[in-house]
Amino acid sequence: MTTGRNNGLICASATLADGGRGARFVMELNGKNVPAFAVRFRGKVYAYVNQCAHQSLELDWSKGNFFDVAGDLLICATHGACYYPDTGACAGGRCDGQPLIPLGVLERDDRVYLAVDGRVLKIS
Ligand code: FES
Repeated sequence: MTTGRNNGLICASATLADGGRGARFVMELNGKNVPAFAVRFRGKVYAYVNQCAHQSLELDWSKGNFFDVAGDLLICATHGACYYPDTGACAGGRCDGQPLIPLGVLERDDRVYLAVDGRVLKIS
């Protein structure tokens, strides 16, 4: 796994409101550029590959809108599969028990970075 751009920087911390819009980015995963996103939930940042477990489609119905109306679950716009924001596990619907692909993040100095084991991933 690896990267995106800007030396691992996904966005400024202030970009991610709790239960609000997410930050979309592109990263390299197993030699391919894939869409990904980060959201804030109950104060903590989480990131996932932006690909529904039901079909290989991006989740957001409009760019950056990943949460349901209550701000409790991530929801796929296409057929309504729901995922827990803090684990990516399927919370119901067409994901049929399959999770999102989680990514590591690090929040430091008011910025959010793509990271693994506490190390920022270099982004090409
Ligand atoms: S593509 Fe996401 S629920 Fe069908």
